Amino acid sequence: SDKSVQVKLVLLGEAAVGKSSVVLRFVSNEFQPNKEPTIGAAFLTQKCRLEDRVLRYEIWDTAGQERFHSLAPMYYRNAQAAVVVYDVTKASSLEKAKSWVKELQRQANPNIVIALAGNKLDLVQPKSPAADGTSIDGDEPDDATATPGEAGAAESEVPRAVPTEEAQAYAQEAGLLFFETSAKTGEGVVELFTDIAKKIPIE
Ligand code: GTP
Ligand code: MG
Repeated sequence: SDKSVQVKLVLLGEAAVGKSSVVLRFVSNEFQPNKEPTIGAAFLTQKCRLEDRVLRYEIWDTAGQERFHSLAPMYYRNAQAAVVVYDVTKASSLEKAKSWVKELQRQANPNIVIALAGNKLDLVQPKSPAADGTSIDGDEPDDATATPGEAGAAESEVPRAVPTEEAQAYAQEAGLLFFETSAKTGEGVVELFTDIAKKIPIE
């Protein structure tokens, strides 16, 4: 018999934070470096296997551009779960996430499971030492270019704009699950959807 239960899940968040990319990672285990903005919303499904049951996620991946904001209630209506995404390199995207959480807590199903996801974690993680183009036994004197505390920092690294502790404290206070993710490397993505699934009540 098919024991899978359908769970309607909606993704919300500012444009370009990586909602579609997180879903693509979860559903197809792929990443597209130049993913185009979503128009309206996209619908995808994916099974999620827990120890004692299987859920079938019905995922509404909404468009973050402001002109689509008024469509959102159609997608979060009756949703059992929501993932509100921000970008760890963009502080304003956490403010936008907070406003989505407020809207969900006022207007969505009162039992909705909400997760906050800080995406693009790969951009703020130190690259491996070999990737930054320097070598330990190079020709240059040790003190020529080094800045205290920056040893090993790669040039391409983007500064983090949202400290983990800040977002985590907000999530705890608002009663949300909290994750940091990278759609690019896949870090945290399966955990995000699996931990949400564990919180969905068995009917
Ligand atoms: P809208 O559909 O306009 O709301 O955007 P979105 O939130 O769906 O963002 P999307 O997934 O389209 O990603 C926007 C851009 O960020 C794309 O170029 C992605 O390749 C890139 N991106 C998404 N996630 C990540 C990530 O985890 N790491 C890095 N480095 N880039 C990412
Ligand atoms: Mg999108």
